[in-house]
Formats: sequence, structure tokens, C-alpha cells
Amino acid sequence: MHNITLINGDGIGPEISDAVVRIIEAAGVDINWDVQTAGQDVIEKDGTPLPERVLNSIKKNKVALKAPVTTPIGKGFRSVNVQLRKELDLYANLRPCKNLPNVKTRFENVDIIVVRENTEDLYAGIERQVDENTAESIKIITRRASERICKFAFDYAVKNTRKEVCVVTKANIMKLSDGLFLDAYREVSKNYPQINKKEILVDNLCMQLVQKPEQFDVLVLPNLYGDIVSDLCAGLIGGLGVAQGANIGHDYAVFEPVHGSAPDIKGQNKANPTALLLSAIEMLKYIGENDCAKKIEKALFLTLKSGKSTMDLGGNLGTKEFADEIIKNLKK
Ligand code: NAI
Repeated sequence: MHNITLINGDGIGPEISDAVVRIIEAAGVDINWDVQTAGQDVIEKDGTPLPERVLNSIKKNKVALKAPVTTPIGKGFRSVNVQLRKELDLYANLRPCKNLPNVKTRFENVDIIVVRENTEDLYAGIERQVDENTAESIKIITRRASERICKFAFDYAVKNTRKEVCVVTKANIMKLSDGLFLDAYREVSKNYPQINKKEILVDNLCMQLVQKPEQFDVLVLPNLYGDIVSDLCAGLIGGLGVAQGANIGHDYAVFEPVHGSAPDIKGQNKANPTALLLSAIEMLKYIGENDCAKKIEKALFLTLKSGKSTMDLGGNLGTKEFADEIIKNLKK
């Protein structure tokens, strides 16, 4: 029995969470879901979008599955996602991007793992207005954060039988900051003789990704390049409805889709649960439920192969009916 925190989010969050929980239960994984609410809807009652009880639940259970949470635009509301990453030191953003059957894209055989450093770089938020016409942002790169993210990428590669880890920088221009990241990669890579090494500049990577994406395996990047490249890679495999993600630290891991709470289709049984389901499959692998992860992935692929999908993918099924099809295919 696994104890896992479930943040079912808002907008389409509850609908896709229901679908995914049903599929996981039907696959026979024994999970005790500790359901936690967060975001806009709980502010009135809890006084904050991320109450202590949610953090305590994740700290206790170590693993969470998270549906999207709305971040209203305006002052006084820190994004729940950013807060979670900070509070739990979830330093690695993992974004597997793999072609799915019958999801039409420009490319085939894309199977890329993007590992993005989540805590520093230009996102450290150190900015200054120098004068009326000049602003500056400081890019922080430390050896500690660079080494741990490179180690994470290599360990992931070993655990998931991947062949290569490619480091992405602009170290020809930012010789000190990106140079330090590259140096950390080179040092860490010495401990993984079984994994191929590759170094590429971020501009060249972007060109290659839209020409021959199938050549890439695991990519490891500092925060800013990682943010941009992970969305580029999500686009290669069909975009938001199918893009999964995870934020992982030394002690805790939160698995979540890339997309937001899609308020425009909330409560209409139209949302595609695939991205949350793929995030959950990655979570099952993380907790050692590899057989069930494979079984659910197979059922999802069979469903998509048979041409059954939600409307965003060109199908005509609602969220619930799509989940029902996947459940049927679990038995095949
Ligand atoms: P969004 O990703 O929610 O929606 C963009 C478009 O994609 C919409 O047309 C939506 O209907 C569609 N879409 C998204 N997910 C879908 C799915 N699973 N199935 C079918 N269609 C889907 O992005 P938007 O509108 O910019 O953000 C809405 C809210 O979500 C904002 O408050 C934002 O802050 C929040 N957000 C939360 C995230 C999280 O909790 N991790 C991540 C990104 C945004």
C-alpha cells in the first residue's frame, strides 16, 4: 500500500484527477490517496492558497500527484507551483516527451527526456532597476546546483536504460556561468562510463530539435534554457493535452501535467486526462510499480491506436468515456 498525496486542483483538475484515479485503481495499484485541496478555492477558508496541511501531507507521504491549480493574475498571490518547488526543494524538473499513437505531429520517433534545473539561473529573481531606462537581471549558477542536476540526469539515464545525456549551454558566450554548468557536467559524467556524453549549444539544439529530434535522448539544461526547450519538446509530441511533467527533489517528488487548469472547458467533460495520466505513470515508476506503469501505458496506447480520444486530439469522447476505454483496454 502506497500513501500518496493527491492535489486535485481546480478548473479541469477534479475531472482529470477522477479519471486518472479510476484508471490506476482499475490497474490494481494499492494506493491510499490523501486528497488535498489547494489554490484559489481554499484561500477563503485557509487564508492561503497553499495551506500547511498540503505541505505536511507531501512531507509525510514523500510523493504527490498534482492536477493544475489556477493562479489568478494580480498581486498578493504567489503561484502554488512556485511555492511547492521552493518549500520542498524540488530541484529537478523532468519532462519526458515521447510520440503517442495517433497523435499527429510533424515528427516520428521523438523520445526525449528534458531535465531542467529548477532553482537558480535567471529565475533566482534578482533584478534591479539601474535607472529609468535600464534594468538588470542576475544569472546565478552554482556548482552545487549544477552538479546535483547533472547527477540527477545521469542517474535517471541509468535507471531508465537510456543511452546518452547531452548537456545544453551557451558556454561559448557566458564562459563563467554556463561554463561552470558545463564543467560540473563534465566532472559528474566521469562517474557514468556506460552513458554517452554530448555537449551542444542551445541555439544549435533548437535548430536540430525542429529538424531531427529523434537524435536526442536525455537533455540536461540550466533553468531558462530548460524552460524554453521543454515547451519546444512538448510541441514536438502534440502539445499541452499530452505533455507530462514532474518536479523532483532529494526527499520529495510532485508529478503534474504541464498544462494549466483550462477554465474555458471546466466542468464540460471535455478535458484530456492523458497528460495527468502520463505524469501518474512516471510516478508509478518512481515508487517502483513498474509493471502497473507499463500496463497502464499499454492500455493508453491501445486506446489511442484504436482512434479513440478526446476532442482536442480529434476524437469524440468525453473525459469519462475516454477513461472507461482505457480501463477496458487494461484487460487486453
Ligand atoms: P491552460 O493550459 O490551462 O489552457 C490553454 C489551452 O489549452 C486552453 O484552451 C485549454 O482549454 C487547453 N487545454 C489545457 N489543458 C487541456 C487538457 N487537458 N485537455 C484539453 N484541453 C486543454 O493555460 P492558461 O489558460 O494559460 O492557464 C489557465 C490557468 O492555469 C492559469 O490560472 C494558470 O496560472 C494556471 N496554470 C497552472 C499550472 C499548474 O498548476 N501546473 C500550469 C500552467 C498554468
